[in-house]
Amino acid sequence: MGKIVDKQELISQLQNMGKNLEVEIQKAEQEEELEKIRIQFLGKKGELTAILKHLGKLPPDDRAEIGGLANTLKEETEARVDSRKKEIADRFFATIADSEWLDVTAPLRTPSPILRKGRLHPITQIQQEIEAIFRGMGFQVLDGPEVETEYYNFTALNTPDDHPARDMQDTFWTEDGNLLRTHTSAIQIRGMEKNKPPFKVIGPGRVFRYETVDASHENTFYQVEGMMVDKDISVANLIYIMKTFLREIFARDVKVRLRPGYFPFVEPGFELDINCLICGGKGCPVCKQSGWVELLPCGLVHPNVLRYGGIDTSIYSGFAFGLGLNRLVMMRYGINDIRWFQNGDLRFIHQF
Ligand code: DAH
Repeated sequence: MGKIVDKQELISQLQNMGKNLEVEIQKAEQEEELEKIRIQFLGKKGELTAILKHLGKLPPDDRAEIGGLANTLKEETEARVDSRKKEIADRFFATIADSEWLDVTAPLRTPSPILRKGRLHPITQIQQEIEAIFRGMGFQVLDGPEVETEYYNFTALNTPDDHPARDMQDTFWTEDGNLLRTHTSAIQIRGMEKNKPPFKVIGPGRVFRYETVDASHENTFYQVEGMMVDKDISVANLIYIMKTFLREIFARDVKVRLRPGYFPFVEPGFELDINCLICGGKGCPVCKQSGWVELLPCGLVHPNVLRYGGIDTSIYSGFAFGLGLNRLVMMRYGINDIRWFQNGDLRFIHQF
């Protein structure tokens, strides 16, 4: 027989344990400490289990009483541990809230190289403006591939492969006999294939020339092609649309003049010059003292080109133009070197 167990002694052991627990729990400052306390008192090898080992030696009535007390103590302890855990967590988050507050009305610290807003490239900006202006005049905006066939880029534009005009545009050829389009004029052919006259289209895009790069030559640049086909189209329609466009894009009236210019896909072909916007036509370095700046090659579409596009030349005629976007942006902002557009320097882009 083991030691005789006294009921009163078990009760006072449980009461002592309860008091100790209360003190220990209140003293704990960390969740891990609380876990240790719980295991120390309530775990399988804990103090409560040790006390209850003696239960079997008590008469049944006393067993029930002590068992009840033990259960209550267990429940109370669990509740105390939980509420202490909550206190600790609340205090923790309150400290964070105090030290890491965020003032959503505080101004941004600038200049910050990381937080600068993105910008659209000036070429993209002017392209979007041009599209909006021509849409307003009823033009449709078309796209075409940058890798083109010889047919769209040259042949159908009245430039057969033995034509000397092919030398005007040095070309990047691909190994399979295609090419990087040398001009957006290729979109004219696609425009005619997609539409029945009358129609008005523009085709913006990136073009490529096998050129040595310097301040005024790039191997990669941007153009917008335009084409209008209808009955009785004449040079007067061309001039009217061009003047309307120029007035919109420069936000003022612009004087224009036409000079003859040669392109195989137009007849007659022209160079459209505008009155120099820098000096107002008096003569300055930008216009080389002439008062005029060459801006827009254009003309009446050559009948051969219309025929390649499946258009009946006994009924319809058309005009076409090709606008260089780099030149236009350079004029607008006084940029003196075409290499800025492609060199990837963010300081350039952030000015626009
Ligand atoms: N495609 C020509 C070039 O890149 C520009 C051009 C000239 C386009 C006359 C036209 C045009 O539509 O009519 O040099």
